[in-house]
This record gives sequence, C-alpha cells and structure tokens, in this order.
Amino acid sequence: MVPSILRESTMQQQLDWLQKNDAELVGQLAKLVAIPSISTDGDHQKEIQQVAELTCEQMRGAGLQNVGILKSGDSNPYSYGEWLGAPGKPTVFLYAHHDVQPVNYAQDWQSDPWKLTLRDDGRFYGRGSADDKGAITVQLGAISSYLKTTGSLPVNVKMLVEGEEEVGSKNLDAFFTEHKEKLQSDVIVVCDTENIETGVPSITYSLRGIVALHVEVTSATKPVHSGMAGGMLADAALALNSILARLYWKHGKIPVPGLYKKVRKLTAKERRAFHKLPGDTKGWRRDLGVLKGVKFALKKGTHPYEQTWRLPAVTVIAQEASSIKSASNQVLPKAAAIVSCRIVPDQDPDKVYKQLAKALTEDPPWNVNVEVKPAGAVSWWMTDPNGPAFEAALSALEQGYGAKPVAIGCGGSIGFVGPLAELFGGAPALLLGIEDPKTNAHAPNESLDGGDFRKLTASLARLFQNLADLPDGKVK
Ligand code: BES
Ligand code: MN
Repeated sequence: MVPSILRESTMQQQLDWLQKNDAELVGQLAKLVAIPSISTDGDHQKEIQQVAELTCEQMRGAGLQNVGILKSGDSNPYSYGEWLGAPGKPTVFLYAHHDVQPVNYAQDWQSDPWKLTLRDDGRFYGRGSADDKGAITVQLGAISSYLKTTGSLPVNVKMLVEGEEEVGSKNLDAFFTEHKEKLQSDVIVVCDTENIETGVPSITYSLRGIVALHVEVTSATKPVHSGMAGGMLADAALALNSILARLYWKHGKIPVPGLYKKVRKLTAKERRAFHKLPGDTKGWRRDLGVLKGVKFALKKGTHPYEQTWRLPAVTVIAQEASSIKSASNQVLPKAAAIVSCRIVPDQDPDKVYKQLAKALTEDPPWNVNVEVKPAGAVSWWMTDPNGPAFEAALSALEQGYGAKPVAIGCGGSIGFVGPLAELFGGAPALLLGIEDPKTNAHAPNESLDGGDFRKLTASLARLFQNLADLPDGKVK
C-alpha cells in the first residue's frame, strides 16, 4: 500500500488538474448537451450517432485507448474506450448513457434545453445535463486528471456509454453475448442515480424495475354520433377508464390480487436508516411541485422512501381516445393506454405482467374487447452495500464531498445494472449520485448542480486510487 502521506500529495496533482480544467470540462458537457440525442421517439438517430461519435472523440481526448463505437444488431451506438495499463490492479467498468428524454412542455423551459446554461443558483441547465451526459464528463474528468498528469491510471478502466437507456436497454442481452470478453471487469461504477440532497453523497443499493402494458379497448367498427348512439353504444373511452380505475389504491395497496406476495420486506435496520435520511414533507411537496390541497397518494403509515424505493407502483403514462382539439359529439369505438408498473425485489416481471393483465381484462364493462400486450420490462436490482469496494467508495465520497455518504434506494430503473453485475459474476456495482431533488430529470429545466458535479468528479478520481490500494486487488 502507498503510505497515506504520499497518496495525499499524489491526489493533489489530480485535484489541481481538475480545478485548472474546470471550464474545459464544462465546455465538454456543453458540447454533449448541444446534441438532441433523444432516443424515445425514433426520430433522432442522426443525433444519437453524432453524440456517440462525440463521446468517442472526448474519450480519445482524455487518453483512453481502443476507442470506438460498438453495436449489436440494430441497437443504438454504444461508445467504448479503455485503459488497461495497470496489470494486477482491479478493472473498473464505468457506465453512463448518452441518450436523453425529449423536451416536453417546451414553453416551460427558461433557457434553451440544448444550450448548457449556468444560472445564478449555480446549476447547469439543459436536457441531459444530469441524466446522463453529466456522468460522461465526470468520468472522463476523473480519468483525465490522471492521464494528463502522471500519464497513467492506478486501475484499469473500461468505459461504456449506452445510447438506449431511456428506452429500456432493449439490446442488452445480445450486446452482452457478443462482447462479454471485452467487457469483463471487477467492479462497476454507474453515475445515473440521485444524491438524496444536494451535497449529500449517496450510494444507491436498490433500483426498481418496470413492467409495462399496452391496453386497448374496442367496442365498435366506427365512431357514431352521440346524439344517435349515446346511451346505447358502449363508450370505449369510459370503459377503458373504468378498467384503469381498478388500479386505484387510494391510501392502501394496489388492488391487484397477488401483487405484493413476493415483495421483499424492509429489514428493521433499513427501516431505521430510511427514517434517518434527510427529507421532509415540505421539501418533497416543493420538489415534486404538488399543488396546494393535493394529498400524497402514500399508503397510510408508509414512509415515502419505502413507498417509492421498495414497493410497486402503477402509473398510467399515456392515454389515447380522441384529442380535445378535434373533439366532436361521438361515441368513441377505441381507446388505449399504457400502464407502467414499477416492480421491486423479489417480484417476478412475468408474474406481475400476468396479474395486471388479468385484473385489466376480466369481466369487461359492457363486454367490450380488451386487448393487453407487453410494452417492455426491466428487472429490479438490489445489492448488499458492504465489502471492500463499497468501503473504497464511501471513503472517496466522504473526502470528495466533505460530507458523510448515505446508502439509499432508487425508485427509477437502469436496465443495464442487474444484468451487467450478473455478467461479471456478481461484481460489486457502485451507483454514485449525479442527480439531486432539484434536477427535474425528464422534465422542463433539467439541471445539474455545479457543486455536486465537481465533488463527484473529485470523488471518482479518489475512488480509482482507493480501489487500487485494496489489499491483493480484492474488491469483494
Ligand atoms: N437516471 C434515470 C434513473 C433514475 C430515475 C435515477 C429516478 C434516479 C431517480 C434513468 O435514466 C431512467 O430514467 N431510466 C428509465 C428506465 C426505463 C426506460 C426502463 C426509468 O426509470 O424510467
Ligand atoms: Mn439516466
């Protein structure tokens, strides 16, 4: 092991480099944000290719080797680069994604979503600034801080930046099968989750998964004047909404038989830890933009962290019948919705799909046709946040942020994490926060906190060193 006194002075070089090159790093993030690499609509393939190429260019600029675009079948391009000059040291797999969400509610943005803009609150605004282009810059910043000073890294790194995370990482299985050897690593580092509060470094040890269903109700071959058929012909829109209402839980459990059967209970230790984490009703109401008088949908007596991290949730994420703009007095023959269910440890996605499908299709109002189809699934993930790699991360974060790190759960999903950890034979996965409660990921005015951006970069540089210092390179 390197004597700690030497480490401090070695680290100083990296930290100084980061400070001196701060504007350059922000500029790199701005270049990434300037490309609307939206993956959710299928209309931005050119931009996704562009951002993948730019990511490769930035990887080369940072000093990574064997940089290039990887693909699998008709997947979006993955950007890949590596540095393998530390034999005997652990290999760290860095994951991020370069695809982003679309700009919905464009009129609500206070600055151009595709122009990274620093506002007076010290935050960088732009689509993807935090989710997840910020992670590319953080990771390349930490890498550069070594390769541009000492010319070498204390560990080996493999960096993969995905281009279809926001659409459920559909090609992941094929990609893994094709590139298994190339990707093999000892420890995974992902920067695509939250810090529980700005400035509070957070390691996420559980993710929810998703089971989505497309539900379509049909009742007739054509729309009919409601003055003629209203009251007689089954209204598909009303039938659909009556079916969807079967999922309404008020302040209890989602009334779908069997849904909670496999849900892993919180341990007493976890429950205590959740209660000690920062967060209060006033802050949640503000951060979520809840209107006055509107109540939380929480199950009575359930802590918001348990509800959003470790319990299933259903959301109607889309509904189509006819548009308000072109509304006319007709009984609608067809209505459709997408129901998205967040799933948790130890729920089985196939079982959840069947349970929901049954609840939605049985005994339809007016005997309308109800057709349910799968609309995507992603598995949940959970790990035990203990062991050498986690120790290394906790100490790196504490020094990098100057604050005590916390272990948290996450209500969102990242398709890659579970299968990747499995591919590497249960390698520890360190999910380090880059977003925070003010980030507004997927929403207007998405932003990255400037302080957390710099602290995370410094922490990651420290993490490389800490992992290199682990006795016998043992990360678990
Ligand atoms: N960065 C998010 C995951 C996340 C969500 C982290 C909430 C912290 C809080 C990620 O980019 C994301 O949005 N994932 C999708 C995955 C889905 C398309 C399978 C999600 O959770 O909806
Ligand atoms: Mn993300």
